[in-house]
Order: sequence, then structure tokens, then C-alpha cells
Amino acid sequence: MADIRFDFNNMFSFSVGKEHGVQDSDMQEMSKSIREAEEHLVKVITDSRNRVKLGLEWTQLPLQDKKVIKSIQALGDEIAGRYDNVISLGIGGSYLGLKAAQDALCAPYYNEFSGLRKGGPRIYFEGNNLDPDTLTVLLENLNPRKTFVIVISKSGETTETKAAFMVVEEWLKENVGKNYGRQIFVITDPDSGSLRRRIFEEQAKDEASFRSLPLLKGVGGRYSELNMGLLHLAIIGVDIQEVLDGARAMAKKCGHEDIFKNPACLYAAAHFILYRKYAKPLAILMPFSETLKSTADWYVQLLAESLGKKYARKVEVSGIGKEEWDRDPKNIVNVGRTPISSRGTNDLHSIQQNNIEGENNKVITFIRVEKFKSDLKIPGKNDILAGKRYSELIKLAQEATEWALVHEGRPNCTIIMPEVTPFYWGGLLYFFELATAFEGEFLNVNAFDQPGVEGYKNYLYFKLNKQGMPTEISQAIKNKPLIKEDKYII
Ligand code: PA5
Repeated sequence: MADIRFDFNNMFSFSVGKEHGVQDSDMQEMSKSIREAEEHLVKVITDSRNRVKLGLEWTQLPLQDKKVIKSIQALGDEIAGRYDNVISLGIGGSYLGLKAAQDALCAPYYNEFSGLRKGGPRIYFEGNNLDPDTLTVLLENLNPRKTFVIVISKSGETTETKAAFMVVEEWLKENVGKNYGRQIFVITDPDSGSLRRRIFEEQAKDEASFRSLPLLKGVGGRYSELNMGLLHLAIIGVDIQEVLDGARAMAKKCGHEDIFKNPACLYAAAHFILYRKYAKPLAILMPFSETLKSTADWYVQLLAESLGKKYARKVEVSGIGKEEWDRDPKNIVNVGRTPISSRGTNDLHSIQQNNIEGENNKVITFIRVEKFKSDLKIPGKNDILAGKRYSELIKLAQEATEWALVHEGRPNCTIIMPEVTPFYWGGLLYFFELATAFEGEFLNVNAFDQPGVEGYKNYLYFKLNKQGMPTEISQAIKNKPLIKEDKYII
């Protein structure tokens, strides 16, 4: 079976020149940090206490018990067999992985054509915005008796998901009657949070109501597709075990000590060098595949929330090996490459102009698919396109884009996927997660928290009169309100 391959040639100076490409000396300079990063990650991962506490438990997800996976698959089959529609509520890490999986692994137009769903339900993603229009239209048009609702939230407190769940629950209650809770499934923290409390209450009254699965401790939202996403995969008919096997194979590949045999480490190191030494703060992920666009959206969250950090990490290890990763208030770093999700060939007629001629401040990662699920032969004669296949053209377009970038001294790299199957997709996700963990080590930031997200939440809660907010937060909002001078609102 072919492997996912990684072509890093165009990140190096021999391809794009010394001003914009990684040089051998850069790699040598980094060799100590690379070794330390590898050793540190292995040390944390092999200690279950540190792994859970620091948020690296996701590294164990590819190894999940086969019996548990089978039971989730059976649960998915049951739901798929019984309902016409599933509404999946969640945001950020509790949403993007599901959308990415569905777009990559189901047929395009999955919701539109019943034959493509093989009798399964249509899937609608909600609770990922506060725009009232989509949910309104959806609830006006779905049959509540034929609709199953899955709410996914680790904290149970996220405004978008919570608000949507309150609306959807009311809709079910009004239209389905007293057993409406049997149409609700919750994926949340195993023992805390308002959703977990709700599960305890409802289950005590009726075991068929508010069934649930746990979002494991030490698995942060954006690293949780192989945990919170499993029921969804089962419902849409994806073989979960294949996804996990793909991730496991990638974990093995990225466990290699030699950086030139470890794609996640090399990806992180080369990007780190280009970012810090060659002023490339923008990261564009451009799959040449329509169905992988949502995977690029998932990656945007992964990179932005994991590495976009104000404070450096201060690692402290106690005598018994327990690690603390405090934020170092004395070390403000404001780091993190800015990710941009794109897609070929569509964006060759858009962002590509800037990629080629705009500021040379970005690194582009292509995903190239070697074999598509189908192909089209272009009919006709006397035209350069006649007789050509789409699959041939898209690969040629990707190669042409590489050439055009290299010609202008613009660094890029290519991930070559043999096919978009559950196995390779699981491997792809896991590769990005590992690469992000390595880059967190190089940048010396905590890649597993997201304190910056709190800023808007604090303001929102303050305006909603949330009780018990820390006084320094409410005071900060009062002391520095937004300035809204009429002169500047035209
Ligand atoms: O990666 C993360 O941890 C976040 O993006 C969360 O997934 C997101 O904020 C949603 O949180 P929750 O699952 O608690 O509703």
C-alpha cells in the first residue's frame, strides 16, 4: 500500500534561492532544538499523568480499543437507520473536524441525493454561528420526528452551541412530546460541565434519553476529531477503524529520530526557520481537491489556536517528573504564523496572484491527490483540452503552480496523498496535529490551550450580565470601552 509522501524540495535554498529558502546551515543550527523537541514530546507522551494534564492525550486516540470503536459504529448504524436528518451542534474543535471528514470522505452532494447516503440521514451542521438565518430555515423545514440531534461541547458553555441547543431542544419538545430526549445525544466532558449534569438528570429519568459519549480528558477540541468525531463518522458510514489505522501509521512514521525521515518534524522545523529567519509569517494550505477544502479550514483553527500565542511557555518539572507549562508573563512573544485556507484550482484565479507577485511573506502547502474517486475525459477534437482527463489536468495545474512559485523564489511544499480514503485522511489529520505539536516546541509556546479566545467571551458575558465574573475583567472592560465617535462612522 502506498504511503502519504511529503515533498519539501521547494522550501530549500537550492530551489528558491538563499534569500527565501532554508539552507543546510539553518538545519544544522536547529539540530539541537530538534533533538530536544523530539525528546521532550516523547517524555510527555509516555507519562500518562503529564499527557492528560498538558493536553496531549490525543496522541493515544489512534490506539483506541477496537470494542469501543465497534460499539460506536453500531450506535451510528442505529441512528442512521432510524432518522432522516441529523443536526450536529458544535463550534471550533467540536465542529470543524466533522465537516472536514464529511466533505473528504462522503460523496460530494451527499445531502442532496439519497442514493449517495445509502439510506442514511442528511447531516446539518449548526451551533457554529450566531447568525439566526440558517437555523431558522432549517427548523422550519425539517420534520422534528425524523430528526436526531447531536450536541458536542466539551465545556457545555460555549455560547453558539448552547444557544442553538436551547432553541433546538425547545423545537423538539414542542413537536415530539415527552420522549423528545431520546432524539438527543450529547458528547461532552466525562464528568463536569452543564451538559454532563443534564445527562445525569435526564438519564436518571429515562435511560434512552440524552445518551452520551465522553470527550476525553486531555484532548483539546481541535485535537479531538478522532474522539468527538467518531459517532458522526459512523453515522455517515465511514469505517472508523481505517481512519484510526491511518493515524497510527502516521504516528509511526513521525516517531523517527532522523528528521529527514520524520515528516511532521521536518515540516515544523522548515516552517519555523522560514518564519523566524526568512520573514514568512503567512501559511497557506491549498489542497488541489474540492473535497479537502474543509480539511484546510480545520487546519486553520489547529494552527491559529495552537500557536498564535502572546506569552512564552515556562516549563517546570518537579522532582517526581510532573510538568507545569505556565505562561511566562515576563516573556511576551506574540508569535504564530497566520494560516489561510485556500483551494486549487479555484484560487489560482484569486489569491494566487498575490502568492506569486505580492509580498514574499508566505509558505504554501499543497495537497496533491494522486488518484481521484472518479474521472472525466474531456470530449471533442482540435482543442488542447480534448481527450485530456480532469485528474491529469488538476495534477498538472498543481505542478505548474509549484513551478511558477519556485520561479519567483516563493517557498512551498507538497503533501502527496495516494487517494482521499479514510486511512489516508486519518493520516493527514494526525500529521498536521503532530507537526503543530513540534512547532509549539520550537516556538516554546503551549500548543494546547487557547487563552486568547477568552477575550471576546469576557466582553460578551459582561454585556450579558453574567454573575461571578472576576472584578479585574469587568473593571478592564469598564475602564477601556470601545470608542465610537460619530465622525468616524460615515
Ligand atoms: O480547540 C478548542 O479547544 C476550541 O476550539 C473548542 O473546541 C471550541 O471553543 C468549542 O469548545 P466547546 O467544545 O467547549 O464548546
